Amino acid sequence: MKVSVSPGHNIDGTLILPLLEGSECVPESLEAGLHTALKSQINRILSDGDFKAKAKSTMSIIGSEGGKAVMVGLGKEQDADIHAYRKAGAAVVASRKKAHGTDFTARFSGASIEAMGAFVEGMMLRDYSYDHYKLKDDDDDEEKEITVRINCDEAQEKELNTLIQNHVGVVSGVHLSRDLGNCPPNDMYPEAFADRAWEWAKQYDNVNVTIINYDQAVKAGMGGLVAVGMGSARKPCMVIFEMNSESKGRGPMLVGKGITFDTGGISLKPGANMDEMKYDMGGSATVFGTMEALAATGYAGKVTAITCMAENMPSSNAQRPGDVIKTLSGKTIEVLNTDAEGRLVLSDGLWKAGEFDPEYIIDFATLTGACVVALGHEATGLWSNDDDFRTRIHEAGNAVDELAWPMPLLPAFEKEMTDSKIADTRNLGAGRYGGANTAAAFLKQFVPNRGYKKDGEQITWAHMDIAGTYWGAKTNSMVGNGATGVHVRTIYHLITNG
Ligand code: BES
Ligand code: ZN
Ligand code: ZN
Repeated sequence: MKVSVSPGHNIDGTLILPLLEGSECVPESLEAGLHTALKSQINRILSDGDFKAKAKSTMSIIGSEGGKAVMVGLGKEQDADIHAYRKAGAAVVASRKKAHGTDFTARFSGASIEAMGAFVEGMMLRDYSYDHYKLKDDDDDEEKEITVRINCDEAQEKELNTLIQNHVGVVSGVHLSRDLGNCPPNDMYPEAFADRAWEWAKQYDNVNVTIINYDQAVKAGMGGLVAVGMGSARKPCMVIFEMNSESKGRGPMLVGKGITFDTGGISLKPGANMDEMKYDMGGSATVFGTMEALAATGYAGKVTAITCMAENMPSSNAQRPGDVIKTLSGKTIEVLNTDAEGRLVLSDGLWKAGEFDPEYIIDFATLTGACVVALGHEATGLWSNDDDFRTRIHEAGNAVDELAWPMPLLPAFEKEMTDSKIADTRNLGAGRYGGANTAAAFLKQFVPNRGYKKDGEQITWAHMDIAGTYWGAKTNSMVGNGATGVHVRTIYHLITNG
């Protein structure tokens, strides 16, 4: 999507009219340049109450004497916050038909700069489809890039333009996360992800990507990553992203689960919907997408990220239920179910994170079906060893309308996960109940103390289980289908706005 901001009154292509519920005619400030016949058509529709401007509703009008318009509802005035504007922008793109063409002009009545920016952000977020594997039809209008011109006051032009340019960078991160997640698993395997990261980093002077390959991982003692990935011909690896590493002081650390396909391994999953397990690298995609959002917007602070990439396959070389593995931390794990593999690769990623002495660590993982049982597709599960930090992440999510819901990190769950007869920890809880919580408690065992000091303070850490929100979230109006790219915006907000 190409977006431009201009204070003129020209209407290019189809006019987008965002309206508050109860509008009975086109606001006077929006009338300039509007075709008279089209204006009376719109006014008739509004005064007859045929379009009520309810939140996210749209109606298109083809002018009898020329001109086209799309009305979009912002809902009631008291509810028309930036989230309503973002959703309205997305609704316009979602409802786009061939007759609208690809050129649009949007005009707002009394909206703040933030609200106009959010509207454009919603349009850009929703303007996404994953069609790399389809034959292209050059004549298809719907495949041409959408152009949007925003009419605003002269005094708003500069600030709005800057805000929109920032949204462009962040949206590129969201779309990258979706691209990675949607990519079919025959083409998205651990080293393919690593190659993409390597290629991507070349465009930014301030970003460096290092790949720890299979042999290096074995040598380093990354027993979790190796055990999960060794059953596949596509070998596991770890990817480290360093942004502005020269910059002084501590920076955030993001860690991602990157299972490019999760069959369950020897503890094989049932066949139904197994294709969805291509999204099991969603945590790593979130991390990579966030790095792109930060890099594209010119963020100058230090940020580091680690993605733990493996394909979980059953084979004669796969790990077995009953195996005991030794992780990078030195702690051993009794593997009671090879389908609980995310926590195994993360055990090494979290431990490795300590080497960078980060301000805090956040991990992202499509970790448990139990989290989907608990929260459905409406919220990400959020755990932390620091209540204030958990609140900060929850608030960052609220600020961008991506819900992350606080969940309990309890000693009883930790006890359940350390209760192995033959190893330091076990990768399976004692029963089915509280499965998302036992998984979080398991991860906590591998969050290092600062400086790896035995009796030191554990690094501030949060865990986000995106099993229900990374894909299949039908109520997420920022996306049509497939991967959502959720939490790139949350973490961008957290890092750049405190
Ligand atoms: N990748 C899955 C979790 C998952 C399942 C995400 C369904 C989204 C939808 C994970 O690796 C897994 O299989 N977890 C098991 C853990 C269990 C064996 C303790 C699960 O949730 O059933
Ligand atoms: Zn699994
Ligand atoms: Zn998994």
